[in-house]
Amino acid sequence: MDLYTRFQSHFYDDPSLGLSVDISRIRFADGFFAEMEPRIQKAYAAMAELEGGAVANPDEKRMVGHYWLRAPELAPDAATRAAIESALASIHAFAESVHAARLRPERAERFENVLVIGIGGSALGPRFVAEALGTPADRLRPYFLDNTDPDGIDRVFDAIGAGLPRTLTVIISKSGGTKETRNGMLEARAQYERVGLTFAKHAVAVTGDGSELDKYAVKEGFLARFPMWDWVGGRTSELSAVGLLPAALQGLDVDALLAGARACDVATRSRETKKNPAALLALAWYSATGGVGKKDMVLLPYKDRLELFSRYLQQLVMESLGKSHDLDGKEVHQGIAVYGNKGSTDQHAYVQQLRDGLDNFFVTFIEVLRDRAPERAGLEVDPGFTSGDYLAGFFLGTRRALTESGRESVSLVIDEVSPRTLGLLIALYERAVGFYASLVNINAYHQPGVEAGKKAAVDVLAVEQKVFSALREAKGKPLTVDAIARAAGTSDVETVFWIVRHLAANPDRGIVRELPAGGSPFAATYRTIS
Ligand code: PA5
Repeated sequence: MDLYTRFQSHFYDDPSLGLSVDISRIRFADGFFAEMEPRIQKAYAAMAELEGGAVANPDEKRMVGHYWLRAPELAPDAATRAAIESALASIHAFAESVHAARLRPERAERFENVLVIGIGGSALGPRFVAEALGTPADRLRPYFLDNTDPDGIDRVFDAIGAGLPRTLTVIISKSGGTKETRNGMLEARAQYERVGLTFAKHAVAVTGDGSELDKYAVKEGFLARFPMWDWVGGRTSELSAVGLLPAALQGLDVDALLAGARACDVATRSRETKKNPAALLALAWYSATGGVGKKDMVLLPYKDRLELFSRYLQQLVMESLGKSHDLDGKEVHQGIAVYGNKGSTDQHAYVQQLRDGLDNFFVTFIEVLRDRAPERAGLEVDPGFTSGDYLAGFFLGTRRALTESGRESVSLVIDEVSPRTLGLLIALYERAVGFYASLVNINAYHQPGVEAGKKAAVDVLAVEQKVFSALREAKGKPLTVDAIARAAGTSDVETVFWIVRHLAANPDRGIVRELPAGGSPFAATYRTIS
């Protein structure tokens, strides 16, 4: 079959949804869809059960309800529906009162900035949407703090600068106990207090009921609290208060975001595979990766505003699919690696390898039909050609070049970057990930690896505490790493090595490192400054 015939038979196009998906450049054989049909039908059934309120996250014994966020009438009970509707109403009401300056900062006329503090699923979606849709006309200018890197934190507050008294801080943590977020909040609090402001009068929380953060917000008297429910996973929380509150404060049309997701959900509930774009994506991934993740997914949106989509998807896909065991307990080590930034920029970077190097990936191109805001159209950079023609030309050129060198690709087309199309993309990938997880029989909705990483960091900090005590007890006497480990009562000497080296590099920690000239790093000694 020639490429164009294949394209015509595999091109999904739904003008009312505003989405096209071309999977024809994935090299599945003719019988692939027929062969996969029973499995994808099983995936539809599993998804219907999930949407109906089944416990779809068996490890954590939780329902998985992100689809109800944009269709509350589908929630399994009246209380859940009411909770979703009332959260949305309070987001609207809160944003309106901030915009109208009925809710004011402690010592300024109005809020002008919003600082979002969160990490992972509590930051990637909000940031992606903020950057994709932001304009100079934003009602509040967004800032993000998503790490416990002190220098990164300083940079954010430097950027906010004298605007701090006009900054509303939104702290987002589903669990309410994530240390990076807690640290960011305490650093923010210190910044407000440094200029004589009361943190709570500038703070709101999005978190689970009764969490550590929730209790703190109540105790301190935060301006407001918004809910996060156990049936919404972090990486699928963009359309809960996690994403909607920052977006509404920025002045974005959150109802359109929800409407786009809702429309996509309707389309992707079809059990007719050819008419279901999420199923087509999941099957394309299955074909490209052999169902075992043997190829990476490279995201190339030809639109600057979508640059953070790959980072958002990286979490959604890799945290959902990267699992050691399947649902039957069999060791499988599943996953699909995701990376990418944007075209055509990346053509001047790693696309060289995509075309000529290792064939360990498939590309997902995203074309946005609308080049720029209509009132800005005009300039021809060459006779008859605009910058947008070049962008489209580079997209098609790279797509063709990759096909010519035997590389596989999927292409998505949306009309424009708008709240509606972002909602659509978010919903499309949420469901594609869910379908793919069913195809490979894994639980997409837990994240034991993330939890393990959080616990390991706590263990390291416990060692650090013992290291500090050991050095203090030595009262300024220089100790080698081995001696510190012995005094700290730990056999993990290497961890002690890394800890003391870091402490000694930061003068405010009061630890000095001494290394004899030309000596091995393992001969260094450490002491407290007396
Ligand atoms: O998707 C996830 O579950 C994680 O990435 C979390 O979002 C992340 O760890 C942050 O957790 P929390 O919102 O509880 O602070």
